[in-house]
Amino acid sequence: MTSPQDFLGFWETTGSAKTFTHPLDPALLDAYVPRGAHVLDYGCGYGRLTAELAGLGYRAVRGVDVSAALIARGRREHPELDLLRWAGFPLPFEDGAFDAALLFAVLTCVPGDADQTAIAGELGRLVRPGGVLYLSDVPLQGDALNQERYARFAERYGTYGVFETPDGGVFRHHPPERLRGLVRAAGFSVLAERRGSVGTLDGRTAERLQLVARREPNEAAEGG
Ligand SMILES: C[S@@+](CC[C@H](N)C(=O)[O-])C[C@H]1O[C@@H](n2cnc3c(N)ncnc32)[C@H](O)[C@@H]1O
Repeated sequence: MTSPQDFLGFWETTGSAKTFTHPLDPALLDAYVPRGAHVLDYGCGYGRLTAELAGLGYRAVRGVDVSAALIARGRREHPELDLLRWAGFPLPFEDGAFDAALLFAVLTCVPGDADQTAIAGELGRLVRPGGVLYLSDVPLQGDALNQERYARFAERYGTYGVFETPDGGVFRHHPPERLRGLVRAAGFSVLAERRGSVGTLDGRTAERLQLVARREPNEAAEGG
């Protein structure tokens, strides 16, 4: 049986030296998130996109990651950024503390359903009603290499789309409806979708799916 902790070890070792390449779409961000917004970059790694946000003029950005090695690297590479290492939930922020959250190439690194649900749910707590979640991830791919490895690892992980890479990583590609469902279950409604291609950690290209979603009002707050 594999626990979430086993997957996290990769991000403290081999994974912490990788170059991440999953690109932000500044025009899409700009359409939904104003420059003064408080933005959380969850699963920020070494702060690649946190730094890009700051460079685009976003003045209140914070990055959080579970990996101590990646946050240490981020602090070395971007000492001006506000980067926090935090494992587990809740994160140390109030409900609705952020106007927007980024979740970029994180769910693809989280093989388990419950862990994915916990991440989406925590972002549902942290993004204020009316605020925005901007997610980009990797849906199931149609090419032979990916389909072969999905089939090969499906029994071991109990999920079609989860696979191991030769360097010890465990990744997951998702049916698009699963990504939409995770976001909806966390209290968001999808406003926009974009497809395109991205470079992957192993130097290939993959199709990606971007979702921009708005946090719905809390029912409890509406009733109170
Ligand atoms: C491919 S990197 C992307 C980093 C960053 N978002 C970027 O695009 O540059 C995936 C990140 O997810 C983090 N991660 C891995 N497993 C996680 C988990 N179970 N919960 C939260 N974050 C996780 C890793 O530490 C890593 O920083």
